[in-house]
Amino acid sequence: MSLNLFWFIPTHGDSRYLGTSKGARAIDGNYLKQVAVAADTLGYDGVLLPTGRSCEDAWVVASSLIHVTQNLKFLVAIRPGLTTPGLAVRMASTFDRLSNGRLLINVVTGGDQGELEADGLYADHAKRYEISDEFIRVWRASLAGEGGDKGYDFDGKHIKVKGAKTLYPPVQKPHPPLYFGGSSEPAHELAAEQMDVYLTWGEPPAAVAEKLDDIRARAAKRGRTVKFGIRLHVIVRETNEEAWRAADELISNLDDEVIAKAQASFAKMDSVGQQRMAALHGGRRDKLEVSPNLWAGVGLVRGGAGTALVGDPETVAARIKEYADLGIETFIFSGYPHLEESYRFAELVFPLLGKGRDHGEQSLSGPFGEIMASDILPKKKAA
Ligand SMILES: Cc1cc2nc3c(=O)[nH]c(=O)nc-3n(C[C@H](O)[C@H](O)[C@H](O)COP(=O)(O)O)c2cc1C
Repeated sequence: MSLNLFWFIPTHGDSRYLGTSKGARAIDGNYLKQVAVAADTLGYDGVLLPTGRSCEDAWVVASSLIHVTQNLKFLVAIRPGLTTPGLAVRMASTFDRLSNGRLLINVVTGGDQGELEADGLYADHAKRYEISDEFIRVWRASLAGEGGDKGYDFDGKHIKVKGAKTLYPPVQKPHPPLYFGGSSEPAHELAAEQMDVYLTWGEPPAAVAEKLDDIRARAAKRGRTVKFGIRLHVIVRETNEEAWRAADELISNLDDEVIAKAQASFAKMDSVGQQRMAALHGGRRDKLEVSPNLWAGVGLVRGGAGTALVGDPETVAARIKEYADLGIETFIFSGYPHLEESYRFAELVFPLLGKGRDHGEQSLSGPFGEIMASDILPKKKAA
């Protein structure tokens, strides 16, 4: 199976050390462009842009990156309940047209009621999933041109539209693919019913296997299949010792008070996925390797994806293959700082996974590396 490898656009900040501004960098349009161009040049298949009040707006940022990249796909969130289906349809269609079919959709139902109420959405967990279900039904039907010239009608419990039409259809038919994460029961139902790719945060392989089996079974009951993806950080270095040292360094400026504050904030959320991430370490910094080479240190202060694969390139590639054996095809990685680590991961791990951009005849020096003594090409090392 060929793997899809994605990187991450850090629209909520970037740093060298978690939980401090020491050595951290400003996020501006130029920096985000550098990360996107790096990912595109290195041969990543796509990038995820997160969404929420802690992030620069995902649609605006992704739009700014279309014309500085060539092949990179953009996984951008739609937020049922925060926009109308009609507006979300037009945004998706226009983006897909302008990028020539490079849009992927991340359906985010949301797991922080306080934040959602601040945004104007008053709905508990169960109701939010009802809204998502109806919203995505309408979104898909409208983009697929259902209802023909008269347009598409829908009269649901939460959403009602009459004569919905997409006058500028998307490049990808019937619509850009739908990715989706969520670990609660209604999330699994929704994934099985309507989604193309189910995403999980990086739990240990056994826990991930259980989730995927559950979704597979629910999808099979509907005569459907769903593909799978995982979101992980990565800390790869030439040796295992260096990689673990880098993991320790990442939290070396993080004090316990900051950890306690972050954990208290996560505890207020109703996201089952977030609860599962927090349970991996319980707020303690002494038991962070939660399964071999899977380190939960990032989740001490970062919401959402809280685990990293840690090790030398061979070890990290082996762990990736372990997840791939469970049926995962898409891996969404990140590392701090995101620009440097996009290079490090691609250069050290892509060759072990048979990935990377084909530079073809244009490349004078593939295998890559500096030419020695103005004459001698570096030798290709066995992967
Ligand atoms: C890979 C992945 C990416 C996600 N990205 C976001 C995001 O950018 N913003 C957000 O608010 N929630 C994000 N989520 C959270 C989910 O969309 C979902 O709303 C949340 O987990 C609550 O659902 P649950 O209670 O069913 O777990 C993400 C989840 C996953 C697995």
